[in-house]
Amino acid sequence: MITLEDKTALVTGASRGIGRATAIALAAAGAHVLVHYGRSKQEAESLVAEIQRKGGHADAISADLATAEGAALLAKQVRALVGDRLDVLVLNAGISKLARIADYTVEDFDNLFATNVRGPFFLVQQLLPVLGEGSSIVAISSAVARTVVGKPGLENPSVLAYASTKGALETLVRNWAAILGPGGIRVNAVAPGVIDTDMSNFTKTEAGREVALGMQALKRIGKPEDIADVVAFLASDAARWITGASIPVDGGSKL
Ligand SMILES: NC(=O)c1ccc[n+]([C@@H]2O[C@H](COP(=O)([O-])OP(=O)(O)OC[C@H]3O[C@@H](n4cnc5c(N)ncnc54)[C@H](OP(=O)(O)O)[C@@H]3O)[C@@H](O)[C@H]2O)c1
Repeated sequence: MITLEDKTALVTGASRGIGRATAIALAAAGAHVLVHYGRSKQEAESLVAEIQRKGGHADAISADLATAEGAALLAKQVRALVGDRLDVLVLNAGISKLARIADYTVEDFDNLFATNVRGPFFLVQQLLPVLGEGSSIVAISSAVARTVVGKPGLENPSVLAYASTKGALETLVRNWAAILGPGGIRVNAVAPGVIDTDMSNFTKTEAGREVALGMQALKRIGKPEDIADVVAFLASDAARWITGASIPVDGGSKL
């Protein structure tokens, strides 16, 4: 069993979905978890209360990571809470967009890159003073960073802009791993397939479910906990020799 006893962890976008399950898994392994949220204050606070009820340690902190100053504001709050040491950083907060190529606006594109790439980039920059030997960064990428999903065609909606943010994030992961490795900091990505959260609400329809299951070797829809367990592993000493990797966690999608 993995342990994160006496470790501090920040999970961005922990109010819902994969981030929420990850915060629960890290807290269950013994970490003091900083539950970051953007808009969902009530959900974040009830998660903190749930972790505390189970005997764990957690605090809720907020920042809008789509804004230019969001990452720095979040890092400031984190540093005030953890002092000089952050052991685990999970870059999870993200947004998606499904549209025909012709329907994308500059605003959509900028919003996707601001939230999914610029936010993580500057959050790592701003937290470097509190990351050190033994710290672990885990970025939540996506299977779409490497695979085209859906039916290609100009009339069909696609997540191509979102997919390119995850490609950029995985490139950052390899660069961070190379740059921070000599300082003893590991950096990895987890690439989920379809996971049952608000982001992938198409799985709530029978047709959407069929599309998802049609891509997968394992015939059920992935759950946030399926990702959270792998993040907890990567964050722990059990993964001490893994860095610069992107781990598919997708029930065998598009094999
Ligand atoms: N679900 C899937 O099928 C799937 C597949 C592959 C990868 N992923 C990735 O997994 C991660 C989590 O996705 P999810 O499915 O759990 O999504 P979700 O249920 O929609 O949750 C997204 C989380 O990100 C936060 N967030 C979004 N924009 C933000 C902003 N501007 N500032 C601060 N926080 C912000 C939200 O916080 P608030 O609600 O508090 O604003 C929320 O906690 C994302 O990076 C996503 O790309 C998901």
